[in-house]
Amino acid sequence: MSELETLEQDLIDSIAAAGSETALEAVRVLALGKKGSVSGQLKKLGKMSPEERQTAGPALNNLKVRIAEAIEARRDTLAEAALEERLRSETVDVTLPARPEQAGTIHPVTQVMEEVIAIFADMGFSVAEGPHIETDWYNFGALNIPPEHPARQDHDTFYLKEKPDGSRMVLRTHTSPVQIRTMEGQEPPIRIIAPGRTFRADSDMTHTPMFHQVEALVIDETTHMGHLKGTLEAFCKAFFEVDDIKMRFRPSHFPFTEPSMEVDIGCSWENGELKIGQGDDWLEILGSGMVHPNVIAAGGYDPERYQGYAFGMGIDRIAMLKYGIPDLRAFFEADLRWLRHYGFSAVSMPTLAEGLS
Ligand code: DAH
Repeated sequence: MSELETLEQDLIDSIAAAGSETALEAVRVLALGKKGSVSGQLKKLGKMSPEERQTAGPALNNLKVRIAEAIEARRDTLAEAALEERLRSETVDVTLPARPEQAGTIHPVTQVMEEVIAIFADMGFSVAEGPHIETDWYNFGALNIPPEHPARQDHDTFYLKEKPDGSRMVLRTHTSPVQIRTMEGQEPPIRIIAPGRTFRADSDMTHTPMFHQVEALVIDETTHMGHLKGTLEAFCKAFFEVDDIKMRFRPSHFPFTEPSMEVDIGCSWENGELKIGQGDDWLEILGSGMVHPNVIAAGGYDPERYQGYAFGMGIDRIAMLKYGIPDLRAFFEADLRWLRHYGFSAVSMPTLAEGLS
């Protein structure tokens, strides 16, 4: 092998052996750099006779070109391999669970709303909504609460600034206005629930200025109190996930229902822990009744022909009862430690088939 052939073979071997772009660059400098081996050979041309130069010149130049090409080819291969490696190592498996330190949780209020919706949807109810800022008419008047009615004092209403005509909008104090809006917007029969935010100027262990209720309204020509009782019993069993539940319907008074009942569920305390369903104690969970004829008329229906029931339930309250959460105010403090403790997995939505919680 001639001197040049040996040099070329050595260089080709080093190029093939270069395992990184940095190593390859070092090989290039050693071969083609100013003081490199190929450059060294080229310098020798000056001392050659013209005849020698005529054959050695093109041979050396060709060698230089071949080495440069081999380096380029190797560079491409290395770059491709580096990219492959990056793609392999940086892949994101979107089916993996979130990193625990970053995983968010579903707030108990959201969880309970979804549970309530799942249960009532299964019984054929649809979900209705209404605005948080209401007129006096929808929040009170249409619900048979005239201006001088004492029930207004109980509601600790947040009023907005008076309008030029003297009227004042309110932050809805309950979800009951959705009853009227639903009746106005559709023909009977009606079977809806309306979960959402409500507002009252009140704050202690069991009251926050913003809280949540779910309203229900069923209107047709035949629905009676037996349907109300059956529906509530089915709901309570499903929601509290118990086979049997003791319930008590206490006569009460709401302006928008006649007759009106408050509903209690049986419970007991065992070693400081609340057990729902059986026992000698009672927990009030909602207000209900047969929709007052005045309310049916305010909704635009004929009260001689249509009847039905309604109820309203505190979502935060049933969340506290079901999940043993002691202080309502903590619900809205956005404390991550509280959310990690009481929150629910973001990847399992409550369904009746797979279990609510
Ligand atoms: N709106 C009532 C409240 O906030 C709850 C309520 C009671 C709703 C009886 C109803 C009902 O629909 O029939 O205190």
